[in-house]
Amino acid sequence: MTHPDPTTPEFLMLGTCDYPEHVPSDRWAPYARMQAELGLRFVRVAEFAWSRLEPRPGEFDWAWLDDAIAAYAAEGLRVVMCTPTPTPPAWLIRAHPEILAFDEGGRVREFGSRRHYDFASPVFREHSRRITRAVAERYGQHPAVVGWQTDNEFGCHGTSRSYGGASEAAFPAWLQARYGTLDALNEAWGNVFWSMEYTDWAQVKAPVLTVTEPNPSHVLDYHRFASDLIASFQAEQVELLRELAPGRFVTHNFMIFESGFDHYDVARGLDFATWDNYPTGMLEFFAPPGVGEDLKTHYARTGHPDLVAFNHDVYRGLMLGKDGLGREGAGTSNGFWVMEQQCGQVNWAPYNPLPAEGAVALWTAQAWAHGADVVSYFRWRAATMAQEVMHSGLLRHDETPDRGFAEVAGLDLTQFPVGPVPARVALLHDYESLWIFDQQRHAAGLSYWAQTVTYYMALRSLGVDVQITHPDADLRGYVAVVAPAITLVPGERAARWEAAAQAGVPFVFGPRTAFRTPGGATWSDGQFGPLSGLTGARLLQYDSLRPGVTQGVAGPFGHAHATFWAESYRVNGAQTLATYAGGPLDGQSAVIRHGNATVIGAHSQELIRAVLSDVLGGAGVPLLDLPEGVRVSRRADRTLVQNWHPHAVTWGGLKLGAVSSVVLGGDWTPTEGKGEQGE
Ligand code: GAL
Repeated sequence: MTHPDPTTPEFLMLGTCDYPEHVPSDRWAPYARMQAELGLRFVRVAEFAWSRLEPRPGEFDWAWLDDAIAAYAAEGLRVVMCTPTPTPPAWLIRAHPEILAFDEGGRVREFGSRRHYDFASPVFREHSRRITRAVAERYGQHPAVVGWQTDNEFGCHGTSRSYGGASEAAFPAWLQARYGTLDALNEAWGNVFWSMEYTDWAQVKAPVLTVTEPNPSHVLDYHRFASDLIASFQAEQVELLRELAPGRFVTHNFMIFESGFDHYDVARGLDFATWDNYPTGMLEFFAPPGVGEDLKTHYARTGHPDLVAFNHDVYRGLMLGKDGLGREGAGTSNGFWVMEQQCGQVNWAPYNPLPAEGAVALWTAQAWAHGADVVSYFRWRAATMAQEVMHSGLLRHDETPDRGFAEVAGLDLTQFPVGPVPARVALLHDYESLWIFDQQRHAAGLSYWAQTVTYYMALRSLGVDVQITHPDADLRGYVAVVAPAITLVPGERAARWEAAAQAGVPFVFGPRTAFRTPGGATWSDGQFGPLSGLTGARLLQYDSLRPGVTQGVAGPFGHAHATFWAESYRVNGAQTLATYAGGPLDGQSAVIRHGNATVIGAHSQELIRAVLSDVLGGAGVPLLDLPEGVRVSRRADRTLVQNWHPHAVTWGGLKLGAVSSVVLGGDWTPTEGKGEQGE
C-alpha cells in the first residue's frame, strides 16, 4: 500500500477540506499558515472545481490551483487532489443533456447543484476520462500532492441509480451478459408470475413507474447493474491515476449508511477507504428505523456512539474485500481515513444542533480507536455563498476560529498511536442482502440496517471490538462470527460457513438468514435453503409486528419481548434454547442451536444481547457490561473509554465527564461495579 507519509506515521494525523476557489487569492497563504500552526498535515482540494479548472471546453486554467498548492506546500502541508467529476460544468451539460440522470418518477435531475450525471452516459464517461487525465497530467507528480480522491461521495443525494436515459438503455445488455438467454432471465426473475415474461431484451426497462411494486428480482438486478456502473466508472479514473500519479495513493470518500452500491466492489482497486463522518446529521437523517425519538433527543449534540462506530468499522473492513485477501497490505494496516469530519453544525438534517462542548475531540478520538490513520475536518472556513452557508467550518464566516477549532488545537495526538485494531469477532455485512431485504421488509420498522445495527449495538454494549466484513471473506482467525441479516446465501457461501463452523468457529444468525436465492426468490425447500445442514432446522412461521404489538419469548435468557419480527423453526437436529410464549407462535422455537450455529428468530434487543453474551463468553471473548452511552475500544497498545452522555458518569472505577474520553493502557480493565451513576 502506498502510504501518504514517506516516514511511517506513529500517531493519528489531521487534515482539512479547503476550497481556495471560494476565497480571494490573498487568503491562501494566511490560511495555509494557520492550518499548519493548528497541526494539520493534509488539505483536500478541488473536488467541485471543474468550472474553474476548465472554464470553457478544452481551455484549462491551472494558475490559481498551482498557486494555492504552492501556498500549502510552503507550509509543509500535503495535498490530496480530487477528480472534479461530481460537478460537470454548465457548458458540458447544455451541450450534452443526455449526461443527466432520471429520478424514480421519470423526471430529469437538472443542472444547478451537483452529482448531475448518469454513470452509464458514454459522453460523460469520455469527459470524466478527459478531465481526470488533464488534472492528473498537471498534478500527478507534483511533490506536494501525495494522494487522490476519486469524485466525491458516490451515491450522495440518491444518485447511485438513474431510472431512464443512458442507464435504462444500457440495462438490457448487462442482463444479456448475465443471463445469456431470455428464458434464463424469465426463469431467474419468476416472470411467469403476473405475465411479466419478456420476449425481447429491448422490452426490459428500469423497475420504476409500475402500477404496484415491481418484481423484487428485477429491482435486485437493477441495483447490481447500477453498482457495476459505479465500479467501472471509478476504475477508469483509477487506471489513469495509476499511470499518471505513480506512488500516490488513490481513495474515495464513502458515505454514512450509503446503500446504493456494493462498496466492496467499488473499493477494489483503491489503496484504502475513506468516509465522511457527520454524527449529528447521521442521527437526525440516517438513523435506521428503530432508533427512537428519545435516543435522538438524548444524543442530539453528539450523535449516537454505536451508529458512528458502525460506519468506522464498515470502512475499516472494506479493503478486506470479498475474498478475504484484500489488497496487498490492506489486512495488515487496518488503515482508513475520515476524509470529512464534522467540526461544527451541519446544514442538511431537519435539525442541525451545535455539537456539545467536547464533541469534536470525542469524535476524533473514536475515529482513531476504530482504526482511522487520518481525520480531516470539513471544512476549513464556513462557506459564505450558495447551498452550504448554514454549515460550520473550523473558521467562522468572518475567519475567526469557531468552537471546533479550539478542540482540535487542544488534542494531544501522542495519545493516539497508529496500530492494529484487535477485533476478533466478525460481523457480516453484504449489500445484496441489504437490497433484497429492504425491497420486501414486511415489517416497516425493521430495515436491513436496523437489524444489523441492533446486533452491532449489543456487541458494543458488551465491550467487544468488531470487525465488519463481507460474508465471503476469509473467516479463519475470528473467534466468533455474527451474521445479523444475511438473507441472500448462495450454496458456496453456505458451504464455506459450514466448513468454518466445523473448524470450530461459532456462528450467530439473525432472522431471515438464508431466506433468498441469489436471484431474489425464496428457496423451494424453504429457509434455510443450503444452510439447513448447518442450522439443523427449517423455517416454520414468520410474523410481522406493528409498533405496540409484541411477541413474548421464554427460556434460559429470561423473558423477552420481540418487536417488529418473530420467526419460528421446525427443528431437525437443532436444540431449542428459547420458545415463544403466547400469541400465534406460542410454544414454537425462537432460539435454536445446532453444533456451532445459533439462530435467533426474534427481534429483541435484550434477547440478542443475552444470546451473544452466551456464545461469545463460551468462545472465551472477554466481555464487559457497559452502561448505555459508555463505550470501550482498543487500538495498538491503548484502550479508549468514552462517555457520550451529556452528563458525567462514574463507571469501572473511572470518573468520566460529560462528552469525554480517557486513553488508558491496552491491558486496562474496569476495577469496580458494573453500574452507571449519573452525576
Ligand atoms: C458531504 C459532502 C460535502 C459537504 C458536506 C456537508 O456529504 O461530501 O461536500 O456537502 O457533506 O456536510
